[in-house]
Amino acid sequence: LLPGAQTDIEPIRYEDGRVRYLDQRLLPGVERYVETADWRDVAGAIGTLAVRGAPLIGIAAAYGLALAARSGEMHEAARGLTSTRPTAVNLRWAIDRVVAASGGAADQVATVEAEALRLHQEQIESDERMSELGAGLLPDRATVLTHCNTGSLATGGIGTALGVIKTAHRQGKIARVLVDETRPLLQGSRLTARELERVGVRFDVIVDAAAAGIIAAGGVDAIVVGADRIAANGDTANKVGTYGLALAARAHDVPFYVVAPVSTIDAGTRTRAEITIEHRDEDEVLAFGGTRVATARASALNPAFDVTPHELVTAIVTERRVLRAPFVDAIASVVRPAAVAS
Ligand code: MRU
Repeated sequence: LLPGAQTDIEPIRYEDGRVRYLDQRLLPGVERYVETADWRDVAGAIGTLAVRGAPLIGIAAAYGLALAARSGEMHEAARGLTSTRPTAVNLRWAIDRVVAASGGAADQVATVEAEALRLHQEQIESDERMSELGAGLLPDRATVLTHCNTGSLATGGIGTALGVIKTAHRQGKIARVLVDETRPLLQGSRLTARELERVGVRFDVIVDAAAAGIIAAGGVDAIVVGADRIAANGDTANKVGTYGLALAARAHDVPFYVVAPVSTIDAGTRTRAEITIEHRDEDEVLAFGGTRVATARASALNPAFDVTPHELVTAIVTERRVLRAPFVDAIASVVRPAAVAS
């Protein structure tokens, strides 16, 4: 584990020209690590969601570039890795950063490796800071609802939204967590449940469709989610189902917090209209655990993400500070001026 990583889970590691990653598709039943020296395998792992979660796919892509630097394929790899998933901006951000660091370097391999490792280390530190800031927003004895998986498996550190929950739990503030199972790939019941079990947090898995009713009945004190891309105005793309949670939260006066590092903010995306939503294979919806459950002729729509308008967001917790409306100004204050679109 990199220094300071407060987790017993190591979803990815780079060592001696090899990437070792945990195949998250097999969890919780099977803990299988895959080792490779080929950036194409890393791209494949991102595309199939063996490696997933916005910050982690950025880190994986950075390590993929470190492998590519060794085989002299940086440019091809940068293109190939960028095209694996379109919504999470951390992917493009990490690739741009590592490519920029490599430019003109005398020893390109050493420079690229160092930058990729630095990026991973920075994520671990950002997670700690976000988790502290976010935990401070939760009331005592809170019942918190979360969606998808935003923990160690998604970041390589303590996590973003799940890091907030783990930290609040250490502070004795969490009564219970409601974990959306997160259809269709069950990141909630497979991955978030596994992480919460390991730290001893009391939780219940709910079907995504139960959330609105439980919120309406007064059973939730706060909703805490991650993000794949935050536009310059605060509009937030996250795992499909997040927008519905935000609508229910607003209708029933429950705070809705987004927790994400500054690297998830894309100042070049002005509003939700410019966010590309990934559409995935319809079999993810039509089959369950490898067995087809829909009728033989059924087709499916499978958007992997949706966008929550900034008006529904109570606050965005970053490692720099907690951002509140007006989000355009708050976001501009934490994003480096060079990154802001003209
Ligand atoms: O398709 P996934 O599993 O990569 O989607 C993950 C999410 O939507 C997370 O909420 C987001 O990436 C934030 S992870 C800290």
